[in-house]
Amino acid sequence: MPGPETYLDWNATAPLRPEAAAAMTAALGHCGNPSSVHRWGRAARATVERARIAVAALVGAPAEAVIFVSGGTEANHLAILGAGRQRVLVSAVEHGSVLQAAATAEQIPVDRDGVVRLDLLDLMLGKEPTPALVSVMFANNETGVIQPVAEIAAVAHARGALFHCDAVQAAGKIPLDSSAIGADLVTLSAHKIGGPPGVGALLARGGLDLTPLLRGGGQERGRRAGTENLSGIVGFAAAAAAAAAEIAVYDRVRASRDALEAEIVAVAPEAVVLGHAAPRLPNTTAIAMPGTAAETQIIALDLDGVMVSAGAACSSGKVGPSHVLKAMGLAPDIAATTIRVSLGWATTERDVSRFLQSWTALYRRRRGSTEKARAA
Ligand SMILES: Cc1ncc(COP(=O)(O)O)c(C=O)c1O
Repeated sequence: MPGPETYLDWNATAPLRPEAAAAMTAALGHCGNPSSVHRWGRAARATVERARIAVAALVGAPAEAVIFVSGGTEANHLAILGAGRQRVLVSAVEHGSVLQAAATAEQIPVDRDGVVRLDLLDLMLGKEPTPALVSVMFANNETGVIQPVAEIAAVAHARGALFHCDAVQAAGKIPLDSSAIGADLVTLSAHKIGGPPGVGALLARGGLDLTPLLRGGGQERGRRAGTENLSGIVGFAAAAAAAAAEIAVYDRVRASRDALEAEIVAVAPEAVVLGHAAPRLPNTTAIAMPGTAAETQIIALDLDGVMVSAGAACSSGKVGPSHVLKAMGLAPDIAATTIRVSLGWATTERDVSRFLQSWTALYRRRRGSTEKARAA
């Protein structure tokens, strides 16, 4: 299949937006530590504070809530370890950076669509009076399934728990309003919205006590020491502003994703679209092609210039069993045949049809060889 490459792995990372690249290039040309009192320092400080406003605006939060950190992974660690709650409850489908920050956390089960069991969360919280922290993501990176976060916040708060929400995958893809989410802590990452990797933010509600993970220069009002990553922060802010301005593009993305799924199911009636009964992000689909390992699909698609992932791509290129699909109760043989296709703002109809062409050709080849083997 000659022609340009087709990138359908936007949940792993998104391309740098031109607005972010321009802002970063400009920032790299300026010297100045935001903590310095002289004019170059003050200019750098003003740049950081403008960026804080833009990042906060993406989720309708006050600028003071934003703590700039090195990415979603650090924000999740700061939320979970910094909140200082002895008891931590996390959903079974959280990103590894939550699960491993809270290695002794209790896991809240999810239903077959990957949605957190609110009844069980309430039961678990009610069992012990120890003040807890509940961490549940807004939307899952592997399936796109959206959690009922406002309800989770209400259950957590009614039981005296804090609520942390990893909104890394939802931000920029659907409108978010931090007061509607009701979380005490929210995680964002720049590279999923067209900013650079290596920068993110934890948003903390006013009055919340956080113990810093990094100490030293007292930056970020004592909550995260280290000289600010100025170019990363301005790239993040430019991406956040562009994402907020262009959020309507995801109506088109949703239509493309839905058309893709409809075509897959029409060609391969035994294909399974995971989490399809739950509310999902507009850009993500997790599809099982029973009988064909995810690795085989990814390699075949890649040979055709089409890039997708198997479940989470964050585990150093390793395709292992997905804890998310397992938690959803998926049979291991179906989970092992599941790929994640994630679209983005620049995805074209041509990208979708190249994917479909490649996937369908593989499916037909595999079906042909299975039938031959049966007949032999
Ligand atoms: C849901 C979720 N949380 C956190 C992260 C980690 O973010 P970062 O790569 O900025 O550390 C990711 C990255 O894939 C993610 O998908």
